[in-house]
Amino acid sequence: MIPAVLPTYNRAPLAFTKGEGSWLTAEDGTRYLDLGAGIAVNALGHAHPALVATLTEQAGRLWHVSNLYRIPEQERLAELLVENTFADTVFFTNSGTEAAELAIKMVRKYWYEKGQPERVEIVTFEGSFHGRSTGAIAAAGAEKMVKGFGPLMPGFTHLKFGDHDALRAAVTDRTAAVMIEPIQGEGGIRTLPDACLKGLRDLCDATGALLVFDEVQCGMGRTGKLFAHEWAGVTPDIMMVAKGIGGGFPLGAVLATEGAAVGMTAGSHGSTYGGNPLGCAVGAKVVEIVAEDGFLDAVGAKGARFRQGLEGLVASHPEVFEGVRGQGLMLGLKCKATNTDVVKAAYAEHLLTVPAADNVIRLLPALNIADEDIAEALARLDRAASRVKADAA
Ligand SMILES: Cc1ncc(COP(=O)(O)O)c(C=O)c1O
Repeated sequence: MIPAVLPTYNRAPLAFTKGEGSWLTAEDGTRYLDLGAGIAVNALGHAHPALVATLTEQAGRLWHVSNLYRIPEQERLAELLVENTFADTVFFTNSGTEAAELAIKMVRKYWYEKGQPERVEIVTFEGSFHGRSTGAIAAAGAEKMVKGFGPLMPGFTHLKFGDHDALRAAVTDRTAAVMIEPIQGEGGIRTLPDACLKGLRDLCDATGALLVFDEVQCGMGRTGKLFAHEWAGVTPDIMMVAKGIGGGFPLGAVLATEGAAVGMTAGSHGSTYGGNPLGCAVGAKVVEIVAEDGFLDAVGAKGARFRQGLEGLVASHPEVFEGVRGQGLMLGLKCKATNTDVVKAAYAEHLLTVPAADNVIRLLPALNIADEDIAEALARLDRAASRVKADAA
């Protein structure tokens, strides 16, 4: 018999009843050190006092009003994002997928307004992930996501990750946009080198194609900059954001330049819940905290410390691990053993990690993880690796 919850997930037999900082308490009372943070969502850890206070205060005042009216909390968050990024304007969604949908629509409308409605082709990359809507799966194109869900939305050209020749051939003055994650998350913490991001910007400038960054997973301070593309010193025309921006409250956004948003006039897009007062009040508090002096530097320092420890683990368990990837606190351990076996062994050590493609496990802790929790995580990963070795023997 089909379970009451549609069985689309491969779930671990674990349920949590409470979270505090980087720790989750399971139903049986066991405490787990959380290096997944809800897959890069709980950017400030669980039950951050300032977020709890903001949410509670807002909940006592006003939860929802329609976008038929001005929403001051939404305006405040939009202004914060505009002040701190390349963007001139922001649309709020409830998820990363919805942000991807709007990004695609914005690109199409841009070319429509420019008098080139046939210019619809968006170049995307193998291993990418933009969500699970029909548009987002067509954008990523991976067999495992699209199989059985056809016919797919047309208008996407999928290129191999890192194939510069194919890229130069594919992006022409008929290309509508290039859409890319500066660091692939689901794809296995695969970082696009700064030179490639710069090269992409140049290619888009030369052809007029819009550059769209998906920073749903790598954004909001995760790499030690507010947004990952800042490391390369380039800016996109459009950017998708979600996950960390809500600190656990469902919230997403599309940020854009005034030029790229030219087609998005009144009536062209909308959402019942997108930009609601609860989500935006929490989002504004998250952005304020992440943008505070010293916060992002601390993410960088914690990331460096964690990475150094991980390099040590790779050296001491060469049969289990192959190398470390990523930037800041968006880290991946490329495995030699099967990554899901490592994730399971980590469960046994009461440590939560997240598998990704390319046989990687992701380590995406709260951005404010305590230094002693990093040390504890390394000790537990060390023991988990020993378990994997013992099981293989
Ligand atoms: C890079 C990227 N884009 C888009 C999405 C989709 O976001 P959501 O699950 O909030 O719809 C994800 C989710 O993992 C993601 O990692």
